[in-house]
Amino acid sequence: MNSERIYLSPPHMSELELELITDAFKSNWIAPLGPHVDKFEDEISNYLNVNAACALSSGTAALHLALKVLGVKENDHVLCPSLTFAASANAILYEKAIPIFVDVSKKTWTIDPEQLSVAIKKYNPKALITVDIYGQSADYDVIIEICKQNNVIVIEDAAESLGSEYKDKKCGSFGSIGILSFNGNKIITTSGGGMLVSNNQELVDKARFLSTQAREPVIHYEHKELGYNYIMSNLLAAVGRGQLQVLDQRVSDRRKIFNNYADSLSHIEGIEFMEEAEYGRMNRWLTTLLIDPNKTGITNLDIIKALKNESIESRPVWKPMHMQPLFKDYPYVSMDRGDISRFLFENGLCLPSGSNLSVKDQGRVINIILSKLKSN
Ligand SMILES: Cc1ncc(COP(=O)(O)O)c(C=O)c1O
Repeated sequence: MNSERIYLSPPHMSELELELITDAFKSNWIAPLGPHVDKFEDEISNYLNVNAACALSSGTAALHLALKVLGVKENDHVLCPSLTFAASANAILYEKAIPIFVDVSKKTWTIDPEQLSVAIKKYNPKALITVDIYGQSADYDVIIEICKQNNVIVIEDAAESLGSEYKDKKCGSFGSIGILSFNGNKIITTSGGGMLVSNNQELVDKARFLSTQAREPVIHYEHKELGYNYIMSNLLAAVGRGQLQVLDQRVSDRRKIFNNYADSLSHIEGIEFMEEAEYGRMNRWLTTLLIDPNKTGITNLDIIKALKNESIESRPVWKPMHMQPLFKDYPYVSMDRGDISRFLFENGLCLPSGSNLSVKDQGRVINIILSKLKSN
């Protein structure tokens, strides 16, 4: 029996990180500021083609500061797709604003523009957090136009979509502010970390000020505003710089893994892989698919269990926010004829997708799924 554990999306270091982190050690910049932080911000700005960036301790911190610097206040309504990770919505509650959840499109799994229009009419929101889920870009031309006409600020949660594209632009560069995550499970990682990016230098400067305890620029410690300790350390920025150099390779590796799974399983009736929208190019952060129990005779949970028995980690698709105990009493805008976010959660599956997953291990995953299907 082959019992080596396979993780869903583990870190994948190149050799460069060690060199850069050694440089940070040798120069004694073991601090939450330093040359690697500045360079990492510049390199991300160049990669995304945006004007400015602020490296932070997490993607969640970036979302929180995005809402703050854009002026979201207590009791403001903030829209957010229901199908996302809780961090997208938690940030809204940090500011005592009210999350309004919106259903996603069945085709793209990202916020449904039709439901977005309904939600805007009904709730007159101050802002929208879009989410490029599993590396699929939301449909920005349409969304930004709707929001512009209705004076709704757009924040792009690109935590899962670094390296993805919408038309000819990189994900993370849409909206007034974009946020990235370098958490350990993301396509590139600093172990933990995030970034706030924008074309508006003032917004980024304000975020940087708040992230360093809102210390006024005088010789003593003077504070007029509530601040946070959200800044990224120079050591972690060194790791991030090494990772960024191999990002395009990581995207290509994950896309290959997706293609291998899809080539091996998509011919089976009742198995449907998440489609890439025609307007974009996904980083395929996680390979996701739907299992129709009526056609296959098994459920997504049956597959997760079969993989777990062989020490392989897989997961259901994100449990939607409107189904979460914490958020269930907030409004949810969905089509009368069906709740897509719930459907994707109830039938969806995320397969191991780490860019360091060998072809042999991909084969292990595929064979377990095939034999589970056959045994039914
Ligand atoms: C969609 C989404 N938003 C926000 C976050 C939060 O990022 P972080 O873990 O860096 O705080 C994550 C991932 O963790 C995420 O998947």
